[in-house]
Amino acid sequence: MKTHSMLLISFALLSMTGCSMPTLYVPTIPHNPPVKEVRWLEQNWSPDERFWFHHVSQGTSTLPVPYSWFLALEQPELSSLSTPGLLSDSEYLRRYGFIPSPKQAGNDVGSQDKRLTFYGNPDGLPVGFSKLPASPDPVTGEMQPDHIGFTCAACHTGQIEYRGTSLRIDGAPAMTDLGKFRNAVALALAQTDAVPGRFGRFAKRVLGEAYTAEHATQLQGKLKTLLAKIQQLKTITDTVADQNVEEGFARLDAINRIGTQVFFTDLLGAPGFDAKVNLTGNNAPVNYPHIWDTYWFTWVEYDASIMQPMFRNAGEALGVGAKINLVNPTRPLYKSTVGVQELHEIEQLLAGKNPHSGTPGFKGLRSPLWPEDVLGSIDQVRKERGRALYQELCQSCHLAPVNEASFWTDKHWQTPNEARERYLDLVEVPIAEIGTDPGQAWILGKRQITLPAYLDVLGTSKDNGTVVKGTFGKVLAAVVDKATTSWYDEHNIAPADRDSMNGYRPNLIQTKTIYKARPLNGIWATAPFLHNGSVPTMYALLSPVDERPRLFCLGNREYDPAQMGYRTQCSDGMFRLDTSIPGNLNSGHEFRNGRSGNGVVGRELSHQERYDLIEFLKSL
Ligand code: HEC
Ligand code: HEC
Repeated sequence: MKTHSMLLISFALLSMTGCSMPTLYVPTIPHNPPVKEVRWLEQNWSPDERFWFHHVSQGTSTLPVPYSWFLALEQPELSSLSTPGLLSDSEYLRRYGFIPSPKQAGNDVGSQDKRLTFYGNPDGLPVGFSKLPASPDPVTGEMQPDHIGFTCAACHTGQIEYRGTSLRIDGAPAMTDLGKFRNAVALALAQTDAVPGRFGRFAKRVLGEAYTAEHATQLQGKLKTLLAKIQQLKTITDTVADQNVEEGFARLDAINRIGTQVFFTDLLGAPGFDAKVNLTGNNAPVNYPHIWDTYWFTWVEYDASIMQPMFRNAGEALGVGAKINLVNPTRPLYKSTVGVQELHEIEQLLAGKNPHSGTPGFKGLRSPLWPEDVLGSIDQVRKERGRALYQELCQSCHLAPVNEASFWTDKHWQTPNEARERYLDLVEVPIAEIGTDPGQAWILGKRQITLPAYLDVLGTSKDNGTVVKGTFGKVLAAVVDKATTSWYDEHNIAPADRDSMNGYRPNLIQTKTIYKARPLNGIWATAPFLHNGSVPTMYALLSPVDERPRLFCLGNREYDPAQMGYRTQCSDGMFRLDTSIPGNLNSGHEFRNGRSGNGVVGRELSHQERYDLIEFLKSL
């Protein structure tokens, strides 16, 4: 059997009716509901700033193909009668949850630092897709063609549809299914090689005027090499497939994936080292968090584990496929394609000016306000009843509402540092007390990482001189620190500027197995709820666990203003979230009579009280 057929089989997306004519099982994806009107909510960003955030490259090449290949791929489908549409078609990508974005050439719109080049969105790709210009591979030094990667907006831009209006929300959780999308790209590549006629069209698109039979043959060779590489990786990662918990729409096991990308994939080929030791499954998927206000939190991530904004962002960029040299000691180790300057500017745009200067209030990306003309007006009487309930039952953990003066004088704000910035110490609740799924809170402290000794990572114990071992959190902090320091050194960044780019905070990690309670401004736009997205609506979250849905579908973008969440009925291509699977547990954070603790955070609420609270939360 030929290599390409093997690859097709291994993606488990097809069955064979015969060796020469594979019948492919095409991934089912939901259909797009019709949209009559699109509205970006007002969140204190200019259109230029927003566009820049949507498409600025952070140095990642997330997809395994050059930029020009991605544009030339056809949708994975098997109809021999007609030519499939292009994979990069916005309407098609919308079915995976990506948000269309206008075609606009690059200039420096929105960039505060005019030294930066911004490539815009020259081919009209969705929000969150960005072009990584040609640059040398840090491992080999060889020039790489333009690549295509995700930027923050791919995972942190929300869309809520209601009766034909599509509300677009910066910083809100994406309703994308990246797993389905990854499979589609791999399948599209495999079909380009295997399905008669497809390679010829692909080659003409990629090569354009440079098309010759010889160039086409070279291209086919490169395609086959890439497919073999994908296949090889797949064979290894399949060995831990039984540990995976499906992520589906709106979720990603970001932290485990960062560990696997940096300590497995990026270490393949390291001399005298077998990277397989660092492979684990993705067993703790989380809902994309919303990222307004987060610069000002002392600790971020659901488990309040990471302090420094630069570490958080550079670690994420590595996880999303920025290239780094961890395997070739003859070239500078830790040199990477991470866009450190861009990451800093992105963070500044999110943070805004000091919230304690002038009139207190967040001055960067603001949480969205409930649009009454689209989602219905807020009932003032019920809202005021809800306010009293919030004070009684929520405020001790989630703090006073952000739009009240007492929030800004709360004792949870630290005293100012030398940069006169004050950070917010959020309430941290041990998992035994909050009772929600423990998976995410265990990752950084429990997962063990082994590294080749030549990487010279401090603070880990040496084992027979060739490898060092440590907990994931500690090792990641050390490795990402070396990557950013390598960039600072190369660009001669002065110590004071490094401080500012680091967000004036040391690179600390804490692994306390807790979850943090954050302020609830804009929470209406962030369903599904809890860190793992296991509770679809606010109404269900305010209900005892046995009243919460045990199985529901994610992938709908149609909103339910009464229950405050997305509609959950299932249809073709949606993701069925089964809350009985560890990683998906919908326990805890419960309002039930009896003793507090052990998952119960407050008394049982009547149906009216749940709706009153929802009415109040709409006003935050
Ligand atoms: C591929 C998807 C993806 C991309 C791209 C991405 N993030 Fe995230 N981000 C996540 C997920 C998932 C989490 C939650 C991880 C956890 O806590 O377990 C997260 C967490 C965060 C947090 C912490 C939020 C909190 O509540 O504590 C911030 C802040 C953040 N991201 C900002 C960014 C920025 C800025 C970028 C771009 C520089 C970015 N993210 C790129 C998926 C992504
Ligand atoms: C004992 C402290 C505590 C109390 C009291 C409390 N919460 Fe929470 N809340 C938390 C913690 C901790 C989390 C994070 C849990 C997780 O994600 O696993 C959380 C998460 C949430 C979330 C999900 C946020 C997200 O990103 O998905 C919502 C919504 C919420 N709380 C609303 C409320 C409301 C409304 C009340 C009052 C009726 C309340 N909480 C009372 C501690 C508390």
